[in-house]
Amino acid sequence: MTKLDQIRAAEARLLLSTYDRNPILFAGGEGAHIIDEQGERYLDLLSGIGVNALGYGNAVIEEAIARQSRKLIHISNLYYHEGQAELALRLTELTGLDRAFFCNSGTEAWECAMKMARAHAGLLREEGKQIGTKFLALDQSFHGRTFGAISTTYKEKYREPFEPVVPGVEFVQFNDVADLRAKFSHEVCAILVEAIQGEGGIRPLTQEFIDEARALTLSTGALLIADEIQCGMGRTGQWCAYQHYGILPDVTTLAKPLAGGIPMGAVLCTEEVARCFHAGMHGTTFGGGPLACAVAIAVIDHMENENLLDHVTEVGDYFQTQLHDLARRHDAIIDVRGKGLMIAAELDSADLAKLAVAEMLKRRILINCTSDTVLRFLPPYILEREHVDTAIRALDEIFTEHAVAAQTAAQPAGGEIHG
Ligand SMILES: Cc1ncc(COP(=O)(O)O)c(C=O)c1O
Repeated sequence: MTKLDQIRAAEARLLLSTYDRNPILFAGGEGAHIIDEQGERYLDLLSGIGVNALGYGNAVIEEAIARQSRKLIHISNLYYHEGQAELALRLTELTGLDRAFFCNSGTEAWECAMKMARAHAGLLREEGKQIGTKFLALDQSFHGRTFGAISTTYKEKYREPFEPVVPGVEFVQFNDVADLRAKFSHEVCAILVEAIQGEGGIRPLTQEFIDEARALTLSTGALLIADEIQCGMGRTGQWCAYQHYGILPDVTTLAKPLAGGIPMGAVLCTEEVARCFHAGMHGTTFGGGPLACAVAIAVIDHMENENLLDHVTEVGDYFQTQLHDLARRHDAIIDVRGKGLMIAAELDSADLAKLAVAEMLKRRILINCTSDTVLRFLPPYILEREHVDTAIRALDEIFTEHAVAAQTAAQPAGGEIHG
């Protein structure tokens, strides 16, 4: 029995069966590659689902962890440490918002943002404004796995087993301005968006839709909340994806790459929204701990020092150009989209998408499939053109083999031709 077999057997006996893992045992990593226990290197174009933005074995992250862990790892939020204010200053500068709250994951950040929307609407009602408690979320949205998050997440499969979920959520057709207008009213406390949907298939909002969402919310005092957990912190070549649209939301949520792989989430909001929380209304034991803050600051410093946003834009554009070329050679690719290093190639069949992920894995390249037919690329920001070329060559080979196999299957068998 291999070590992997032993671990698989133990997990099957001991863990909740929430994950359908690929049978690989990873043991290390270097740059854009993750390495299994046999020493085989895999090109990682998924970076732990958009988390390992600086790749593996980054010296800046390792030093920040070592340095901070020798000083303090945890103190709780009953006392001060030097990291939270400094990180809040950095993030308020990067996002254009005024105040921060730190937590430990994306879904936790989202819960905080939803609570803010309800509390803020309550405050406005006390001040005599007409505003309700309803949320407008979008078709195909994904906001996490806790109750508020699943309630605002579109796909039925995430909500249905746990019903009843949080009431008061209505879904708006994606990028449908007329539907947004029809569903918006004084009853709405917040419109919830991802500027570029992640799980929903790397789908960007239109300028018109986001402008309308901003205008409607401003007209009543409702909040525009931008979930930047997947598309934020540099992934699209801007610190926040909403910055491509020239708008400022009232609240944004960050997580995934924020602390370079150490779990951390953050909520940023305007001064106006911040009025709704007072001491005791919200909190967390671990959130904003010294270790996570120190690493997040080191990650931001490194991204700035290395001009990584420009690099993300440059390599991301190259990646998309290569995928467009590939799409011209293979009819199976029906769309290529995204921004920076948040990229999708949509295929014409779910079976082919599944096959492509499996075939890439055989070639030691990690990608995944979302929304059934969408190949998703969320590589580390340190990706180079040569890595893109490797991936494109592999995809080319896979689609060519598939086309040949499909053609062969479609031809009548030799004996029947004479018939
Ligand atoms: C847009 C978005 N929001 C929220 C979440 C939830 O984050 P987490 O898994 O850290 O709870 C995710 C995770 O994929 C996400 O992509």
